[in-house]
Amino acid sequence: MVTAVAPANIAFIKYWGKRDEALRLPWNDSISMNLSEAYTTTTVEFSPRFTKDEVEGLEGEEVARVSKHLDRLRKLKGNALFAHVETKNTFPKGSGIASSASGFAALTLAAAKALDLSFDEKELSILARIGSGSACRSIPDGFVEWKVGESSEDSYAYSLYPSDYWDLCDVLVIVASSEKNISSTKGHEAATSSPFFHARVEGINERIEKVKEGLKKKDLGILGPAIEEEAINMHAVMMSQTPSLFYWSGKTMDIIQSVIQWRDEGLPVYFTIDAGPNVHLICEANNAQEVSRKVRILPNVESVVINKPAQGAHLV
Ligand code: DP6
Repeated sequence: MVTAVAPANIAFIKYWGKRDEALRLPWNDSISMNLSEAYTTTTVEFSPRFTKDEVEGLEGEEVARVSKHLDRLRKLKGNALFAHVETKNTFPKGSGIASSASGFAALTLAAAKALDLSFDEKELSILARIGSGSACRSIPDGFVEWKVGESSEDSYAYSLYPSDYWDLCDVLVIVASSEKNISSTKGHEAATSSPFFHARVEGINERIEKVKEGLKKKDLGILGPAIEEEAINMHAVMMSQTPSLFYWSGKTMDIIQSVIQWRDEGLPVYFTIDAGPNVHLICEANNAQEVSRKVRILPNVESVVINKPAQGAHLV
């Protein structure tokens, strides 16, 4: 019986659209930060006692997706035993806080170890990616880059900087904790139908350079505008795909407008949003309490969680 913990991650540069659906190969490089308070803990046990895969904590299609991922690992081991899987998140899943990222990163590590397969970080990242694209970024520590690569063997994530490199915070603002209607997996499928999709991919390198420069210099004045631009750009693609996909709600917009106002008043804080209505506010640690205080008194805010950069997937 093996237990692994893996963090969710917030994408500064996003993965949206797949050039290979089955292998989950992206169109562009992406960059993220692991989140200290949003993580999945998964325990896996393979045993002849089980007559099918039993997955506690998930339902329906998600169970099938987990089973399929276990098949990939069982195949590598040449082992046909069924597994008991127990998985728990510290945050609501399916609401735009990458639960599939932390979920598949933790599952990959725990199942590999339970099968006594020894993989290095790169191999784990590749396997996690095939389970869920963004999961490959939850394997390495801290601030992470996922390179597009030419093929499955070289499309993986690695750490740009460890978690203690910069006291950046993600003040996560939850405005809706119910599950979204359209999963990101479904949404990805229609990404290229947006007339803006290819323009996005062509222009993304410039933003990637800005994000890298911001990280290198630990300069939020460079990083922040680049991640906001990136979030708006990805959501413009989502909204203009067929069928169109609106992950933002009116509540999301209210937070965005407040952030812009606070910044005008001198508080350095920037927003980004993944596949859901909740908003991630990026600021330095010395401003995190102030940002959190301001956000808590806004209407429609269900809860607020201050995340620090975190280590990647690990065994417990
Ligand atoms: C908007 O990794 O959830 O959060 O590969 O189908 O599991 P699948 O998709 P997923 O997509 C995440 C999309 C995103 C942006 C990002 O995290 O980069």
